[in-house]
Amino acid sequence: MKKLCLLFVSVTFFANAFSQQAAVGEIAIIPQPVKITKGTGYYTLPANITIWAGGAAAPVATALANRLTSASYKVRTIATINKIDKVAIHLQLNQTADNALGNEGYHLTVTPTTITITANQAAGAFYGVQTLLQLMPSEVESKSKVTSVTWKVPCVDITDYPRFAWRGLMLDVSRHFFTKEQVKDFIDQMAKYKYNLLHFHLTDDEGWRIEIKSLPRLTSDAATKRVHKEGYFGTFSAPTPDEPRTEGGFYTQEDIKELVQYAKDRFVDIMPEIDIPGHSLAAVVAYPELSGTPGAENYHIISGEPFMDWPGPKGRLDNTLSPANEKVYPFLDKVFGEVAQMFPFPYIHIGGDECAKNYWEKNDQIKALMQKEGLKTQEEVQSYFEKRVEKIVESKGKKVIGWDEILEGGLAPGAAVMSWRGIKGGIEAAKQGHEVVMSPTTFAYLDYMQGDPIIEPHVYATLLLKKAYSFEPVPDGVDPKYIKGGQANMWTEQAFNVRHLQYMVWPRALATAECVWSQKENKNWDNFAARVEKQFGRFDEAEVKYARSMFDPTFTVAKDAAGKLSVTLTNEVNGLDTYYSFDNSFPDNFYPKYTQPLTPPKDAVMLKVVTYRGKQQVGRMIAMPIAELKRRSEKKGGEDDE
Ligand code: ACM
Repeated sequence: MKKLCLLFVSVTFFANAFSQQAAVGEIAIIPQPVKITKGTGYYTLPANITIWAGGAAAPVATALANRLTSASYKVRTIATINKIDKVAIHLQLNQTADNALGNEGYHLTVTPTTITITANQAAGAFYGVQTLLQLMPSEVESKSKVTSVTWKVPCVDITDYPRFAWRGLMLDVSRHFFTKEQVKDFIDQMAKYKYNLLHFHLTDDEGWRIEIKSLPRLTSDAATKRVHKEGYFGTFSAPTPDEPRTEGGFYTQEDIKELVQYAKDRFVDIMPEIDIPGHSLAAVVAYPELSGTPGAENYHIISGEPFMDWPGPKGRLDNTLSPANEKVYPFLDKVFGEVAQMFPFPYIHIGGDECAKNYWEKNDQIKALMQKEGLKTQEEVQSYFEKRVEKIVESKGKKVIGWDEILEGGLAPGAAVMSWRGIKGGIEAAKQGHEVVMSPTTFAYLDYMQGDPIIEPHVYATLLLKKAYSFEPVPDGVDPKYIKGGQANMWTEQAFNVRHLQYMVWPRALATAECVWSQKENKNWDNFAARVEKQFGRFDEAEVKYARSMFDPTFTVAKDAAGKLSVTLTNEVNGLDTYYSFDNSFPDNFYPKYTQPLTPPKDAVMLKVVTYRGKQQVGRMIAMPIAELKRRSEKKGGEDDE
């Protein structure tokens, strides 16, 4: 009874606090807009829709028309309104800027008779359209024509603009290559949630993915030479001579041009990353003369076999470009020259992360460089390198951004920092007056497992949706003007195919989208979780895979002095019931309900659990061996070691 009262109180509080921002009914927008005022009634879309778009909003109208056409409408777009036109949707750019909206904000009004989006710029109109689509039934996302739906839009008034200008998603196409069409699809998905930057991780030890015309071996020798393996990346056996080296791919300069335009049409920029001086094995395989280590001509592209040791990193081979090798700089001049031509975005990401220095320590050329330049540590050697690279990049008219390791040994004067090892590097860079983008592993690494390791495909760490949602890009005590924004990163060592890529990205990228678009005070986990659930229906229609891991419990186990286990099950989402069995059978909602920590019966071998909301199963059937619980109980804290 006490529990019931508490529940009532918290729901009432929640409803009050979010009466204007609610996820109730059909209004479940992600990212949460700045202000929502619910009206009464609906606008029902007519069978023949006319969209009027003023001036620069015309391409946005075309994009909306395309979506609605595939959702079974007859749609036409017009640039001027005649008396006889009954306009369903108005996309209007303000003659006089509404300062509150900025470049990307919009105002959306739905009344029983019409829909109006106003914005200062086409980007704002585009984001207004994304919100409008989320107000429509999920079937608007359908890949095939839909005839059985009443296309109603709830009456509402929305004012919205982003908190941050940098709202990024990083996609690693080196570890696993994704085709141009798959990348376009990725861009389509991210644009729906108002991301505006695709950070394209194009080079690494596993492959070089972008054509550089003046350096053809980068793609002839280092793009399609992986051995296809399946299992746990990083533990594979080394490729043998008889295994075909055919996996991979690369984007031609024409492909890049097409992708840049495709992204631009969706108000997404693409930022290239050329990861140097570490993570550069692909470049070294193509051009071994860039290495500082004899024998580099025998190196091959990594296919998932172990080649670095941690902590460190210490390379079992030298995957770096040597800062003391003068051939490296003209090479980079060519690379950045061509890259700068291909990508209009003002920044080029130069990597800088996880550079193993164990080969540098032994290298006579590096020792001579240190003496000549007065460099005392290997970090200063890397800093010397970054400063030269910055000059090259700037000579191509671009600004430099790098992972937070570029702070070590002294930051290049104009460099922006992407803070990934927590937020420490970002704080330090901001204090030095440098621009910062926050993408800490702790909140923004989408390659990490999103549920208990017993059920998720194995990765070395875990990031639950709720934790991802608690990402705050501006740390206390830091001048917000230096924090350009935030992003989530999707590394693909373990993402072997595009469906799994989607599974890892969604819904956690929804959390990051809200953290970088929505106002801090409009964030609320319970409200967000309810909206995420609504998005699942849209993903289903769009045939995009997503994880339902938020419905699964995680396991924590403790052991008392007598060796008795106590297993705690934790759900991220409120309002779920967890049922369990110890007898190997599959629990359902007629089984014992979890209410307090469980102690496995003496001879039990398996704990099976499943979550329900009311009578509906929402979680996956999870089988947890008791032996695994015992193993975890022997570790500090009783958590899994991931
Ligand atoms: C990184 O995750 N190595 C930037």
